[in-house]
Amino acid sequence: MELVVIAGGFGTRLRPLTLRRPKALIPLLNRPQVLHVLDRLPPDCDRVILAVNYLYERVRDFFEALDTDVEVVVVNEPEPLGTGGAIKNVEEHVSGTFAVANGDVVDTIDFAALVKFHRKSRGVGTIAVTPVEDPTAFGVVALDGDRITRFVEKPQETEAPSSLINAGRYVFEPEVFDFIDEGRAVSLEREVFPRLIPPGLFAFREAGPWSDAGTLSSYLESQRLLLDRDGGGIAKGAEIAWDVLPPVLVADGCFVEARLGPHVVLGRGCKVGRCVIRNATLFDGASVDDKVEIESSIIGEGAAVGEGAVLRNSIVGDGVQVPPHTKHVGAKVDA
Ligand code: GDD
Ligand code: MG
Repeated sequence: MELVVIAGGFGTRLRPLTLRRPKALIPLLNRPQVLHVLDRLPPDCDRVILAVNYLYERVRDFFEALDTDVEVVVVNEPEPLGTGGAIKNVEEHVSGTFAVANGDVVDTIDFAALVKFHRKSRGVGTIAVTPVEDPTAFGVVALDGDRITRFVEKPQETEAPSSLINAGRYVFEPEVFDFIDEGRAVSLEREVFPRLIPPGLFAFREAGPWSDAGTLSSYLESQRLLLDRDGGGIAKGAEIAWDVLPPVLVADGCFVEARLGPHVVLGRGCKVGRCVIRNATLFDGASVDDKVEIESSIIGEGAAVGEGAVLRNSIVGDGVQVPPHTKHVGAKVDA
């Protein structure tokens, strides 16, 4: 069975980190985000097909240099075709019943159970669904038993038919290709799913933690989820001189005098002075001076935060210098 990973979005909600980096390669626990998706393959998966357009070459080069257990084919979409068009665009690489995953979702999906459920319900497609408190930022389903009777993408609060949302994991019969127009951008959620309801679209209730890592707050939620699930760790080659409130993950070559944690990830070679960092990530080679406070933020690769600066709910771009004693709340700090 093939797994198609839809990973071509622009990642606008994570800018400036996605200005020069495809969302699929944004580090999450110091590994490109898309590799977390590849950790959970469907049964007998012999091939992963990555549907990419934005910064395609970066994704292709990354996988060319990487040794994977499974064959990975990176397919270019010269123009963005939307989530449905992206699937249609890889039709020739698919050989039978196939699985699909949104590239930015972190969860503990049991693909084997999803495939088994799909085969039993005999629909054209099965969507994994998960309950959330506020469904308005997602695709929402109405159900009759396990059968989907309505699919509403990003409804107004008053229009959400339930709190069960599309978890971004699917299984389809090849028949689905007949429902997607060729040669134009097609939304899987807005155009294809409604058309699949009469012939049979089913919902598989996914258990366990789930998060879409596509915004700052949900990226940090995904990080917390993975740290709580797998624990953190401090690399042998890292030096920590002060307090750590686990879970934290610190890569090799870091030198840290800060009070870290909980839920902090440091990439390789970060230098961190006497400061406080909570619920945050520093990408490789970032540095932070004394008396800084960082909370619920991402600091880009090689960025430098000056003494006494405060960062909350903010994203600092790669290589950006944050001036000393400045305060940034809910900001996107770029050069
Ligand atoms: N190849 C390709 N081409 N991929 C695309 C394109 C495109 O034109 N547009 C988006 N993608 C990819 C994104 O990179 C992402 O991995 C996935 O498709 C979903 O797109 P998002 O832009 O992240 O959508 P969303 O998070 O607002 O909503 C989607 O995901 C939710 C679950 O996380 C929808 O599928 C919702 O229904 C769902 O609940
Ligand atoms: Mg998303």
